[in-house]
Amino acid sequence: MAETMKGLHRTHRCAELGTADIGSTVTVMGWVQKSRNKGGIIFVDLRDRSGILQLIFEEADCGSGNFAKAEKFRSEFVIAAVGRVEARSGAVNENLETGAIELRVEEARILSEAQTPPFPIESGSKTKEEMRLKYRFLDLRRPDIQSKLMLRSQVATKVRAVLAEEGFLEIETPILIKSTPEGARDYLVPSRVHQGKFYALPQSPQLFKQLLMCSGYDRYFQIAKCFRDEDLRADRQPEFTQIDMEMSFVDVDDVIAVNERLLQKVFKDAVGLEIELPIPRMTWQEAMDRYGSDKPDTRFGMELVNVSEVVKGCGFGVFTGALENGGSVRGINAKGQGQMPRKKIDALVEFAKGFGAKGLAYAAIQPDGSCKSSFAKFMTEEQMKALVDAMDGQPGDLLLFAADKNPVVWDVLGNLRLELARTLELTDKNQFHFLWVTEFPLLEWSEEQERYVAMHHPFTMPMEEDLDKLDTDPGAVRAKAYDIVLNGTELGGGSVRIFQGDVQEKMFEVLGFTKEQAQERFGFLLDAFKYGVPPHAGLAYGFDRLMMLMTGADSIREVIAFPKVKDASDLMTNAPDVVDEVQLEELGIAVTAAQEEE
Ligand code: AMO
Ligand code: AMP
Repeated sequence: MAETMKGLHRTHRCAELGTADIGSTVTVMGWVQKSRNKGGIIFVDLRDRSGILQLIFEEADCGSGNFAKAEKFRSEFVIAAVGRVEARSGAVNENLETGAIELRVEEARILSEAQTPPFPIESGSKTKEEMRLKYRFLDLRRPDIQSKLMLRSQVATKVRAVLAEEGFLEIETPILIKSTPEGARDYLVPSRVHQGKFYALPQSPQLFKQLLMCSGYDRYFQIAKCFRDEDLRADRQPEFTQIDMEMSFVDVDDVIAVNERLLQKVFKDAVGLEIELPIPRMTWQEAMDRYGSDKPDTRFGMELVNVSEVVKGCGFGVFTGALENGGSVRGINAKGQGQMPRKKIDALVEFAKGFGAKGLAYAAIQPDGSCKSSFAKFMTEEQMKALVDAMDGQPGDLLLFAADKNPVVWDVLGNLRLELARTLELTDKNQFHFLWVTEFPLLEWSEEQERYVAMHHPFTMPMEEDLDKLDTDPGAVRAKAYDIVLNGTELGGGSVRIFQGDVQEKMFEVLGFTKEQAQERFGFLLDAFKYGVPPHAGLAYGFDRLMMLMTGADSIREVIAFPKVKDASDLMTNAPDVVDEVQLEELGIAVTAAQEEE
């Protein structure tokens, strides 16, 4: 039977001990990383969340009973050890924080035995992720994951401290709410009391934080769980965390200023990074024109160049055709890639097609200045030279062109640019390039729904100078919306909100809601707006994404204790799962046959 801690008190974590503690008697507790029996002397690496400490067992110090216990130690046994800190008897281990000391054990207890774990508990695991997530409780013991989650906790604490200093109140908003519209699908929770009715889990606290502004709380924040039933990617989870905030009596610049101070203090505290303020800003239009993306990675160049004017009237039908259709022709210059083998260029063409391109025209500039090109034969020499000049093409460069409607051209070249940066290793994880993207379009045309949809959400304020276009040219209206982008990832986003009833009504009208529909869905907010509403604005960060970028992790799963996988299931608990017939009956829910079979 395992022993208890009775009479013992942990005095230190393993790696809290150092040469300053030599001579003192301490008690440590943790997991056996490994145990080596050298005959008459046993070395044990003891691990806890702080790190590893070497224990040394000799019968002369600990007596035969304790020595016999140490002989039984296996990996992941939980033990307690009391002893004296000494300078290492053997060579100092430079790789270990506690490498200059060891603990000469006088008393030991086995608090819990352990089966052999299905994979070794060590940093930089090569174990398949499915396996790691199935045994997440073991995976979470790995020092590299532990350090990420510890940093996450430190960041949360710092965020709270900075926002409190800035006058923000931390207020919780409900998890069981009415369905809110924010683009993604809602997770629904059936009501037992009101059969046939459902709560939705919040996609964000958006409406509640706006109500808090109406109620006079002035500056709110919350580290809030959000739920979105959308297709997962490396930087998306169905259940994720936002650092969410809202402020009253502010405009764009105020929100940006508070958040720049927040980012600066948090990054300094967490990773020692000095963010230079102000963080650069770029309008959405400029971001699309230069990078083909509303979240540009500005760690490298390879910017898009609009060559529509240059190729106007040239002999290449693909180019002129796109222009005639109201599109554009743009290119990027992959510097020094002029010798890229044909096979690789073909792969880039296929990549571009994956983003909706009909093709990808290229020109590889040879050392003598001539071009190997898929379309030069349709161009005069002057036209070709003008094009190369416009792209700042030098011998040895590879020029890539897309011709189509603007959104396609941006998407194709924006992604091609990222793909080239990835394969050519143009980016460095240790560089942090922050960028505000501002003046987003207010609306987006949805081919599917044949109506305008809000790009951010229906409560986002149009820019004053564009208000008159709401009737005449809704697609051209810019919004007081902003995103904070870090290394090509959208870290957070927000906007100034509409606070005038008439503007909000107009907005609903443009979005195709009738008065009744608007009242049905957002009545409580519209009502609140009738009783005195302050101008307000806010922003929310993806906390998981922030931690992913801060720690250089490849996926947000690495910075979430219990993440879900691509199909939104939890491999450890096996959620989602079937439930008892009785539970369903109570809820008045019948599962259809097709689903049951599945
Ligand atoms: P938005 O929808 O842009 O804005 O979300 C804010 C930030 O949350 C993060 N995020 C996600 N992180 C992980 N998994 C997901 N599925 C996921 N979806 C979003 C992103 C994103 O920038 N209420 C507004 C904010 C506001 O206007 O104040 C909102 O939710 O980093
Ligand atoms: P084609 O005349 O169809 O053989 O095309 C000549 C070159 O133009 C090929 O390299 C195609 O990949 C490329 N191309 C075709 N459509 C487009 C387009 N929309 N934008 C850019 N290049 C294209």
